[in-house]
Amino acid sequence: MDTKYDNAVKISRILMERHIKGGMTAVDMTMGNGRDTLFLLGCVGKDGFVYAFDIQRQAVQKTMESLRNSTFDNYKLINDSHENCSGYIESGTVDVIVFNLGYLPGGNKNIFTKKETTIKALKSSLELLKPLGTIFLTAYTAHDSGEEYKHVLEIVKALPQKEYNMAVVRFENQINQPPVLIVIEKRNV
Ligand SMILES: C[S@@+](CC[C@H](N)C(=O)[O-])C[C@H]1O[C@@H](n2cnc3c(N)ncnc32)[C@H](O)[C@@H]1O
Repeated sequence: MDTKYDNAVKISRILMERHIKGGMTAVDMTMGNGRDTLFLLGCVGKDGFVYAFDIQRQAVQKTMESLRNSTFDNYKLINDSHENCSGYIESGTVDVIVFNLGYLPGGNKNIFTKKETTIKALKSSLELLKPLGTIFLTAYTAHDSGEEYKHVLEIVKALPQKEYNMAVVRFENQINQPPVLIVIEKRNV
């Protein structure tokens, strides 16, 4: 049997499986090859809905192809930057939001998430969430000398405790700057 707690993506999926119920609305802010989009669809089921964003047409096409082989049609793939998410989704309507920052695995390593747009998308995401809605953000701390992660951390650490729960999961005994998981839950106030 494989270990369960050795990386950020595995832990985020364990938490998401507990959090997400059939019929919920989810957003994948970094579609990439579509693995998270498909995972979210599996969690929300046929009665839910998944929005997914990516700036790369290649990512959208790849995701479209893999979803074509599924039985789902309750999704919208959006070839746009996640900083524009509030133009596509009404505020206060989303149960779960996923960010998997960095570059597309197997793609162009020069196209990666950037601190300016990530921070705008993160701030908009807080508006999109329903009460008790949750953001699962996996951040790579090496691809840009940790700049993006540093700025994301500054924003989330400053969130008011009365309105948000926030936790950071770091792998302190691992080498090579492993990704970090940030979980933000909007409180029911
Ligand atoms: C680490 S990959 C995501 C992996 C993906 N979730 C999966 O399951 O395969 C990061 C993705 O973010 C995308 N990206 C970079 N900047 C973006 C932006 N401003 N808005 C939306 N997507 C962006 C990249 O094109 C890349 O595909």
